[in-house]
Amino acid sequence: MNETFDFNIVDSIINELGCKKSAIISILQSVQEHYRYLPKEIFPYLSKKLSISKAEIYSVATFYKNFSLKPKGKYVIKVCDGTACHVRKSIPILNRMRRELDLSSEKATTDDLIFTVETVSCLGACGLAPVLTVNDKVYPAMTPDKAADLLKELKIKQ
Ligand code: FES
Repeated sequence: MNETFDFNIVDSIINELGCKKSAIISILQSVQEHYRYLPKEIFPYLSKKLSISKAEIYSVATFYKNFSLKPKGKYVIKVCDGTACHVRKSIPILNRMRRELDLSSEKATTDDLIFTVETVSCLGACGLAPVLTVNDKVYPAMTPDKAADLLKELKIKQ
């Protein structure tokens, strides 16, 4: 993104949630919902609009784990590696997904911005282990082969 960044979306979010400092978390949440991450262009913009320093906004954005400063894929896949999923072999599932998509622990998102693969500590569905989610839809009792089939399905939807 560059100087052509369109601030209309951010403006309508600010109008809806209030042009005030106390709304910053909700505003960042809505911006992230829209873009799937927090584009760097919004920091100076929000700083000016809400009269908050950029450093303060960055500290909010980096404090909450759910905010991302890096672009994410259309499909955000979270492979659970909590205890219940780990003992039921979540790591081979994670490795298979990374291999299929040419990703790694350092590179979580494909270059075409279709897939992001992350790990998460517990999705709260331990009885269904091993579990992964795709944009918050839960896929229970996964195996590496099922995960690969799921990727194929998602690719076809493109
Ligand atoms: S450990 Fe995976 S859902 Fe709880």
